[in-house]
Parts: sequence; C-alpha cells; structure tokens
Amino acid sequence: SGAMRERVRIAIQKSGRLAEPARALLSSCGLSWRESRDRLFCHGDSTPIDLLLVRDDDIPGLLAEGTCDLGIVGRNVLLERASGYGTGEVPPFREWRGLGFGACRLALAVPQAWSDSQAAALDGLRIATSYPALVSQWLKERGIAADVVTLSGSVEIAPRLGTADLICDIVSSGATLAANQLRATDIVLDSEAVLAGPVAPFGDARAEIAGLFLRRLDAVLGLRD
Ligand code: PRP
Ligand code: ZN
Ligand code: MG
Repeated sequence: SGAMRERVRIAIQKSGRLAEPARALLSSCGLSWRESRDRLFCHGDSTPIDLLLVRDDDIPGLLAEGTCDLGIVGRNVLLERASGYGTGEVPPFREWRGLGFGACRLALAVPQAWSDSQAAALDGLRIATSYPALVSQWLKERGIAADVVTLSGSVEIAPRLGTADLICDIVSSGATLAANQLRATDIVLDSEAVLAGPVAPFGDARAEIAGLFLRRLDAVLGLRD
C-alpha cells in the first residue's frame, strides 16, 4: 500500500524454530515491546518499531501487500514465494540481510531402504514438498522429469502413505527424517533466517526508522562474527 506511516512493522514467526532467536536478536538491537493480550501485535516501547506475530509462510505475502514493512523469515520461504512470481514480474520484497541463525537445508529425502542408484534415478517419480517452485526449478535445471506433489504440511509421511515416492523438505537437526525412516540425498537450497524488506525505498518516516534499525542490526551481527 502507498499509505504514509510513521512506525515500522516487523513480522516474525509466532511459534516455531525462528520465533525465539528472532525476538532475541531484535532485543539485542535495543527493541522492546509491551505485550498485548492476544500477542499478535506488540507495540514498540523504546523505538517506533512494532512486532507482528504470524505464521512464517504468511510473511512474504504480508510484505507484498504492505501490511508489514520488514520480516524475519527463512530464506527458503522467501525464495519460494519469489519464485512464484512469473518471468518479467519482480517480487516487491527481497533479502536485506542473512541473520546467522536458523540454519537448515531444503533437501531431497528418500526411504532409508533405497539404494544410492535408486535415489539417483528420479524420472517418473513423485516428490512431495511444500516448496513446489524451488523444487520444480531444481528439477528443470537438471532435466529431471519428476512430478511435484504440493503438500502444506506433514510432507515426511507422504512416502509411507503412498502419496509420493520421496520428499523435498527442510532438514535442520535431521530428527524428523530419522523418525520417518528417510535419508537426505541432494541439497536444493542452503537456508537460514534472513531479514526481508521491500525492494523500493520507504517514502516516509519509515526510511529513517528502518535505517537506524539496520545500523544497530549490522553492529550486532558484526559482533557475532
Ligand atoms: C521443518 C520441516 C520439519 C522440520 C525438520 O519445518 O518441515 O517439520 O523443520 O527439522 P528437524 O530436521 O530438526 O527435525 P519448519 O521448521 O520449516 O516449519 P514449518 O512448521 O513452518 O514447516
Ligand atoms: Zn511454516
Ligand atoms: Mg514443518
């Protein structure tokens, strides 16, 4: 939206792998909030920066429609949404900074019983994933004619249910794959938490607020190296 605003809204994951480290990082940058009762919106106390607590998958859409100004989200989620824009269509958001936490991989994973040669011959097989754009692009680049089955969750159960032959999902500790007798093969994307923001500069007071926040963030990230 083109609405003028004097405060910056940062969207972060309400619960999940990135939720706590994202809040900790923002606190390190000097931000603090009054907790609201429903905890979906937290008014910034020390700086004109408010928090929006949402599902990580919703963050690119919230950025695109201008409901939030910045977001902390996995690079995997951001790139999947960016890939969804057609050629010639530029996504209105982009990665501003890698944040050095939430490291994970988007990886293909096959049943543990498969041999290496089985896992290397994917033509004609069905791959379950919540990242259809990234997986389709990866397959296309390699000339592999596999079918992509889009699932919004519980992807790791698909091979056992017979709805797919293998999966492509986020692997962090590897516990989910192990619990489902799957093993990772190819890595499609190395990911971590990133700060996402608009491609176009802010045309109002948000420019200065976001600029100050970025300087603090860069100081905090620099201290971590
Ligand atoms: C991913 C993936 C698994 C889990 C794997 O979900 O879908 O559920 O992490 O982690 P592990 O290797 O440590 O077991 P993600 O955290 O991306 O969140 P989601 O609920 O938004 O899919
Ligand atoms: Zn999610
Ligand atoms: Mg998950």
